Amino acid sequence: MFRARWFLSAGQLQHVNESEIAMQFKFHHMNICTDNLSRLTKFYKTLFDLGTINDEAHTVISRERDDRAYTGKVDFLTDGDIEFHWSERDLDTGFKMKQFVNPMGHGHFCFRTDDIQGFMRKCDQLGIRYSDYGCWAIPGWHQVFLHDPDGHVIEVHQPNVF
Ligand SMILES: [Fe+2]
Repeated sequence: MFRARWFLSAGQLQHVNESEIAMQFKFHHMNICTDNLSRLTKFYKTLFDLGTINDEAHTVISRERDDRAYTGKVDFLTDGDIEFHWSERDLDTGFKMKQFVNPMGHGHFCFRTDDIQGFMRKCDQLGIRYSDYGCWAIPGWHQVFLHDPDGHVIEVHQPNVF
């Protein structure tokens, strides 16, 4: 589908194709995996006064899949701006999803984008391998996981895709 946008630049109205517009990235959340979720959550809520996010957009649906890919509990916390997803550790999520990158073993941090397909094309062009999990855990989010050069797991997702 052809899409285009208009914008004002140096006082002149400019017209560009969607493909020429850079995709947006914004830091979205931090995820830590733990073997003692209640202890971890209590620590951060007590010391940093984090609040709990309790809405339909923050539910885990991966336990409803046939492969029950991730069945752990997740506490969704926030300081009012950034989200923190403290999660029960699951070293088998990658195996169950048949993916090489497991985001639920040691955690990850996440950037939100408005163009997940463009992001994967960019990775392809740069020769960076990634695991395309699709929509598997959070309703509507298309999630991709990859490693940085030191092996830290990064999530990139686009919301409201499915
Ligand atoms: Fe995440």
